[in-house]
Amino acid sequence: MTQKTILITGAAGQVGSHVAELLLARGDRVIGLDDFTTGRPEHLPPASAASSFMEGSIADPAFISRVFEAVSPDVVIHTAASYKDPEDWYSDTLTNVVGTVNVVKAAKAAKTGRFIYFQTALCYGVKPLEQPITLSHPKNPGNSSYAISKTAAEDYIELSGLDFVTFRLANVIGPRNVSGPLPIFFSRLRDGKRCFVTEARRDFVYAGDLARTVVRAADGAGQGTYHFSSGKDIAIRELYDAVVMAMKLNDYPEPEVRPLGPDDAASILLDPSRTFKDFGEIRFTPLTEFIPAAIDYYREYGVLGEYTHLKLPAETTGER
Ligand SMILES: NC(=O)c1ccc[n+]([C@@H]2O[C@H](COP(=O)([O-])OP(=O)(O)OC[C@H]3O[C@@H](n4cnc5c(N)ncnc54)[C@H](O)[C@@H]3O)[C@@H](O)[C@H]2O)c1
Repeated sequence: MTQKTILITGAAGQVGSHVAELLLARGDRVIGLDDFTTGRPEHLPPASAASSFMEGSIADPAFISRVFEAVSPDVVIHTAASYKDPEDWYSDTLTNVVGTVNVVKAAKAAKTGRFIYFQTALCYGVKPLEQPITLSHPKNPGNSSYAISKTAAEDYIELSGLDFVTFRLANVIGPRNVSGPLPIFFSRLRDGKRCFVTEARRDFVYAGDLARTVVRAADGAGQGTYHFSSGKDIAIRELYDAVVMAMKLNDYPEPEVRPLGPDDAASILLDPSRTFKDFGEIRFTPLTEFIPAAIDYYREYGVLGEYTHLKLPAETTGER
């Protein structure tokens, strides 16, 4: 296979760093960019002839021009996103909308062959009209600044005429996950504090499994919009139990089980049939196989952020 040049925005984040590792391991040239809003420098692959990094914000058009002057990518993998503070609408629009438009315009001008994007299932709203949610479900992102801005960005990508793949994601977790329930469960259990879980069910998928599928999209598989989802949900309590098991705790506080909040969907299931049709069989790694690696990561680097973008339910459902 000929070597590709691939630009990864958000390269210091969970998904971007997993994708970078796979691409470098097979011999591609990877240029990462990040402003470290939620990503961390220790997530970046070591600099080498094949791997370079530029620090800056996608919201800065001069920075994006410099990046595209330095590199003319065959593929852009656009993972950079803002979600840290649900009240910070300014940063969300600046990064998610203006930043995406900057990258899309630059990719068009550079005649980039393929553009890959990552969308939240919240684009369907917190009360979806069907389960599982199909790709024909209308977009209805009015529930959060994050969902509104991510959806506007997706609309611009669709408008751009670029050859694009959008993955609308289930809850993607694993090592380097800084948001949602996983880091919260870890840090509270480490400190001997009680957690709470709601009765919600979610589809937790491993970032490494997504990364393998993204590499296939970078190679030309698929076109348009896909759900990245196993199609099966589990109780949040099962994630809690997997964390307890990985931490090898014998003595720990029983979590408080809370009823669903008014904006908390009992389950969010995305219909993955188009993904399985175009990308073939995807092996979804069981929680018990990858949560131990996430726990090792938190033990080594700490949890930092524990960010949420929905104030109420995110602690227990980790919507992203
Ligand atoms: N993890 C999930 O469950 C999930 C679910 C739905 C959608 N997504 C989307 O998937 C993508 C990757 O998510 P992730 O879990 O890796 O999140 P992440 O926070 O680990 O990675 C995002 C990266 O973008 C960087 N970033 C933020 N603002 C930036 C800016 N203005 N300029 C440059 N870099 C910037 C951050 O520092 C971080 O490294 C995001 O687009 C996110 O919206 C994730």
